[in-house]
Amino acid sequence: MHLAVFLLASVLSAATFALDNGVMRTPPMGWLAWERFRCDIDCKNDPKNCIRQNLFIDMADRLSEDGWRELGYVYVNIDDCWSSMERDENGRLQADPKRFPGGIPKLSRYLHDRGLKLGIYGDMGTHTCGGYPGTTLDKIEIDAQTFADWEVDMFKFDGCYSNATEQAKGYPLMSKALNATGRPIGYSCSWPAYQGGLPPKVNYTQLGEICNLWRNYGDIQDSWDSVLNILEWFFENQDVLIPAAGPGRWNDPDMLVIGDFGLSKDQSRSQMALWAIMAAPLFMSNDLRTISSEARSILQNKMVISINQDPMGIQGRRLVKEKSNIEVFWRPLSSDASALVFFSRRTDMPYRYQTSLSKLNYTTGSYKIYDVFTDKTMILKDSTNFVVSVNPTGVVMWYVSAPSKLNRRQFYRGGNVQDSVYTGDENANPRVFL
Ligand SMILES: *[C@@H]1O[C@H](CO)[C@@H](O)[C@H](O)[C@H]1NC(C)=O
Ligand SMILES: *[C@@H]1O[C@H](CO)[C@@H](O)[C@H](O)[C@H]1NC(C)=O
Ligand SMILES: *[C@@H]1O[C@H](CO)[C@@H](O)[C@H](O)[C@H]1NC(C)=O
Repeated sequence: MHLAVFLLASVLSAATFALDNGVMRTPPMGWLAWERFRCDIDCKNDPKNCIRQNLFIDMADRLSEDGWRELGYVYVNIDDCWSSMERDENGRLQADPKRFPGGIPKLSRYLHDRGLKLGIYGDMGTHTCGGYPGTTLDKIEIDAQTFADWEVDMFKFDGCYSNATEQAKGYPLMSKALNATGRPIGYSCSWPAYQGGLPPKVNYTQLGEICNLWRNYGDIQDSWDSVLNILEWFFENQDVLIPAAGPGRWNDPDMLVIGDFGLSKDQSRSQMALWAIMAAPLFMSNDLRTISSEARSILQNKMVISINQDPMGIQGRRLVKEKSNIEVFWRPLSSDASALVFFSRRTDMPYRYQTSLSKLNYTTGSYKIYDVFTDKTMILKDSTNFVVSVNPTGVVMWYVSAPSKLNRRQFYRGGNVQDSVYTGDENANPRVFL
């Protein structure tokens, strides 16, 4: 599709109503316990890693002291296995008293005092996936009120142990119940993931009206295979998913596993870059106490974060799928800018991919290019053929500023630019064309 036509279509779809609670106008960012810490409740033998108050306090300290909060990573989210096996005498959920000695209110105060926000987890069904008390239809109002009383800022509603009929009632009811508390609470719905993620079983118009974000697909694991599998599903179904996203309503391909054990440096950059293209929520699930500086610099890349957080909130798309196993992704950004990602599925060696901006649907003009992982800049004319060198399972990611009219004399001052070569190699010195 031509750039302008696609932009128009996106703007029209973004006019659809979003859940009117005022929160998450850009994709939410923060930290979520599940992928890295799961349901480890063995605090006796594994005190550093078990699900308890101290784990969340440790992560809050890291977020506020190590530069994360200022970049937008403000949510600290509890997942499954936080509660007691019994509701209290008033039928309210309660935190496990040994592992959360101050209860959830103490934790939310600790976070709010540091400019952070607290997320909590529940399950539409008889039990959570981990076997803790669930929220059946009759418990929806009391649980919503409990979370509001605890000053929780976000709520993830999982869907284990319920069927499609109950989910079709429960997810909208919870949205109403959260609204009725008067506290703006970001609402994350796992509903579509339990219904295959696609129409006609999933109604994305309705989801956008009742939820701020939703898990469309299966859980991420700490492996490149898992990241690839998720990417494939999201981009194979991009025509369904892109119109569903916009300010206040986001598709959620699940957590960032950067900083864990499964991804190489190139694969970590790939996850970060493509999550930004997808306008995905950025919830890290890693150990911020011991994270490597390499993983931290990828997660703290300001340019990638600003692309992810673009205020127009238009989800990007895969433009090109080459036989060579190179793919090109594009996301329109505000101020007529855009982001491009060149991604290699190859497993041999850095691949020299040749294309031009006009082949990628860019209109006539000259564009300033900023390579977000190497900090190199250059000017590219739409018709100039260039070469990017993309590492196996890696990416080259560009921020492309708005086109400016060509000044021919200036442009040709350096001689013939048609065959100039750009290489994404970090150690190479890319040609600057002007
Ligand atoms: C509840 O919904 C109404 C109507 O959509 C909206 O104006 C209001 O801001 C919402 N309140 C909260 C706390 O989400
Ligand atoms: C869904 O679960 C409810 C409650 O257990 C049950 O009454 C209903 O028959 C179930 N519906 C289907 C379609 O299985
Ligand atoms: C999807 O939900 C919207 C909004 O709630 C509703 O107007 C529409 O009829 C639904 N579509 C289908 C196919 O059920």
